Amino acid sequence: MAFLIIAPDTKVTSWVKHLSLLDPGIDVRIWPDTGDADEIEFALSWHHPSGEFNKYKNLKCIASLGAGVDHILTDPNLPAGVPITRVVEHSMAQSMSEYVVLGVLNHCRQFDAYRTDQSKKKWQPRIPQLAADMRIGIMGLGQLGTDVANKLSTLGFPVSGWSQTFKNIEGVDCLAGADALDDFLSQASILICMLPLTPKTRGILNHDTFDKLPTGAYVINVARGQHLIEKDLLAALDSGRLSGACLDVFAVEPLPQTHPFWHHPKIIVTPHISSITFAKAVAPQIIENYKCAQTGKPLLNVVDPKKGY
Ligand code: GLV
Repeated sequence: MAFLIIAPDTKVTSWVKHLSLLDPGIDVRIWPDTGDADEIEFALSWHHPSGEFNKYKNLKCIASLGAGVDHILTDPNLPAGVPITRVVEHSMAQSMSEYVVLGVLNHCRQFDAYRTDQSKKKWQPRIPQLAADMRIGIMGLGQLGTDVANKLSTLGFPVSGWSQTFKNIEGVDCLAGADALDDFLSQASILICMLPLTPKTRGILNHDTFDKLPTGAYVINVARGQHLIEKDLLAALDSGRLSGACLDVFAVEPLPQTHPFWHHPKIIVTPHISSITFAKAVAPQIIENYKCAQTGKPLLNVVDPKKGY
């Protein structure tokens, strides 16, 4: 049995090291040097070429290298019946929460404005709004969304969460389903998108959504670039409907050099680093699934391709 890493634009040295430390006998192949395709029974994947998995007729598991599986499920030529797994891991939730808390606090305490003031040697105290007056709205209450909700709630922010199916999180006002969306949006001074990318959620950050938020709301997108209609965001920022946005994900990555987001005074751009997959932390669950695939035991963190997460 061989283990294939198929992640064309990703450095995989650290993955090979940590997988091999946990399973010294492992036969890791790195795409495109696959060797005999019939020996491949497990694929660790991040942005594989479409249709590629059909070449491995003994494949028993396609494992996403991250939390999201949209990069796998958008392939129209997936082999039928091969289970797909995702990563669910504490360090990913921790790094995501660090990023989102920083984005929220940076906005509330106006650090960008102070940097500009500093460059002009301007002493200009600004009165922040009380955390208690800034309701946070989190779209998507999976492992990452729940961790962010708990951490922001601990900091004193009132937090609402919206998800496809109802969740119960202590201290968080949880709403679910399309009927509850308007109510959820109408209260969110800071809207945070943490949804999986599915046909239902694609383009959900659009003009109608922004129009339902309180005037001057702030948007953080740490999910996928395809959730956002970019021109609607620019229009909402220019009209003052939104006060700013912090974006970690984009429809095209790397963000093209000529893209208007780079220079927009109300947009913070980061290069898809909000939640980091640390090979050292994640390798144990990948190896566990590799062993389950070998022995026929149930796999961990299997996704439902129909739901998309
Ligand atoms: C990152 O975007 C992930 O899906 O883990």
